[in-house]
Amino acid sequence: MPGQPRRASTALEVYNRDFAWCPVRVLLLSDIHSNLEALEACLAAAPAYDAAVNLGDIVGYAANPNEVVERSRQVGNIFVRGNHDKAVCGLIDLKDFNPVATEAVLWTREQLTTENLDWLRSLPQGPVQIDGLSDAQFVHGSPVDEDEYVVTVRDALEPLMATPAALTFFGHTHLQGVFAADHTHLDVFHPAYKTVGKSERSEFPLQNGLRYLVNPGSVGQPRDGDWRAAFAVFDSEERIVTFCRVPYNLKSAQDRILAAKLPQRLATRLAAGR
Ligand SMILES: [Fe+2]
Repeated sequence: MPGQPRRASTALEVYNRDFAWCPVRVLLLSDIHSNLEALEACLAAAPAYDAAVNLGDIVGYAANPNEVVERSRQVGNIFVRGNHDKAVCGLIDLKDFNPVATEAVLWTREQLTTENLDWLRSLPQGPVQIDGLSDAQFVHGSPVDEDEYVVTVRDALEPLMATPAALTFFGHTHLQGVFAADHTHLDVFHPAYKTVGKSERSEFPLQNGLRYLVNPGSVGQPRDGDWRAAFAVFDSEERIVTFCRVPYNLKSAQDRILAAKLPQRLATRLAAGR
């Protein structure tokens, strides 16, 4: 069944050498940024999964912070904190935030229930690891610095080489893609899609011996020129990352932003995917 945890399906469970349960399919969500319409579209389109990992920036920018926190908690229990999650809780000051982001943080802080604010404050700093996937780690920005943006090949060099895990899943840049390195080369890949408005998938097989940084893209505010909500699924048995893009009710998300009197730019940029 699409978008459902499949933990209860014993036929699909896999055990490692120590007879510990290993997740086979991991749903990867990042940078939802309070966009409930985009989150629901991703969950409806997602294949069955064994574990769901949220790479942070659950809130900020769009107009449904409480609903997105609560839905995210229903979907999975593995999280790392993002810079917007920290900012709304007052864990960091806002000096590095531009005026639009600052306005969204302050609005979001006002909207969140005490319980949801406390929950966001309790989110762990990455890297985090999960049982059964010893070669993988999960971060918001970079395994070296949780707030660092890994955009270019140059940015990717240190995080690829300076950490023990061969496979790092990260977010923060809102750019879907992969950095891959062996001993002599470091390349970047972005999934190729055929349309700009339909639901699509793009598979990226991982090779043994290489090190990877994998970004599932942003659910709620993509910035790679594609307005569709982004997420990914990692199949640890097949060693394939499947990147996904799904259309969502853009107008509804925009209308909510405007009705909340958040900056207009936060609504218009969703249509451009920038
Ligand atoms: Fe973000």
